[in-house]
Amino acid sequence: MSFPPAKIESSRLFLRRAQLRDASAIFDGYGHDAEVIRYLSWHSHQSIKDTRDYLRQVKEDWDQGKSYTYAICLEKDSPLIGMVMMRVRDERATFGYAMGRNYWGKGYVPEALSTLIDLALAQPDIWRAEAYCDVENISSARVMEKVGMTYEGVLRRWTRHPNVSDAPRDCLMYSKVK
Ligand SMILES: CC(C)(COP(=O)(O)OP(=O)(O)OC[C@H]1O[C@@H](n2cnc3c(N)ncnc32)[C@H](O)[C@@H]1OP(=O)(O)O)[C@@H](O)C(=O)NCCC(=O)NCCS
Repeated sequence: MSFPPAKIESSRLFLRRAQLRDASAIFDGYGHDAEVIRYLSWHSHQSIKDTRDYLRQVKEDWDQGKSYTYAICLEKDSPLIGMVMMRVRDERATFGYAMGRNYWGKGYVPEALSTLIDLALAQPDIWRAEAYCDVENISSARVMEKVGMTYEGVLRRWTRHPNVSDAPRDCLMYSKVK
């Protein structure tokens, strides 16, 4: 299987490369839901044009090998309910994720994330899978614990979460290595 694959199946989910046609599912599902985007790196989408611009960037990043963003779907051809992103640099894969609020609490993101982590760590050249979250993002920290990642510590002033503050935020770093 080539890496990263454009499609991946897990027990309950279908992951596939995100596309421009996912714009309305993202915009309607969580693109301007303050609860979902609070600890993400992007601002609330004001209109579906913002979501389309975001997806164009997602496509460009995949084409250039900068990052790989998957749509999380419940059926092969059903609308996206969330996303999981993987970035590979040197021997590390870094992950990010978000899910529409209607689908929280069902373990979907841990399932998607662990599927991608297993795939990444099965690559001979990838030795470390990592993810981090805002120091206040308890739900995201739980996701990382649930997939068996190890808590490594606080990265002080690590990254901006513009919906919380303009100043870079402290983050919790987790990883899984082989
Ligand atoms: C964090 C997030 C991805 C979890 O996804 P999920 O598929 O709901 O994951 P789970 O079902 O395993 O739930 C994980 C934790 O979220 C919390 N949670 C679940 N359902 C919840 C709900 N309805 N309301 C509030 N918190 C909830 C719980 O703490 C849960 O831990 P538990 O299983 O030990 O109780 C999801 O809440 C989300 O998209 N949040 C907004 C985006 C975000 O913060 N992404 C991470 C950026 S680092």
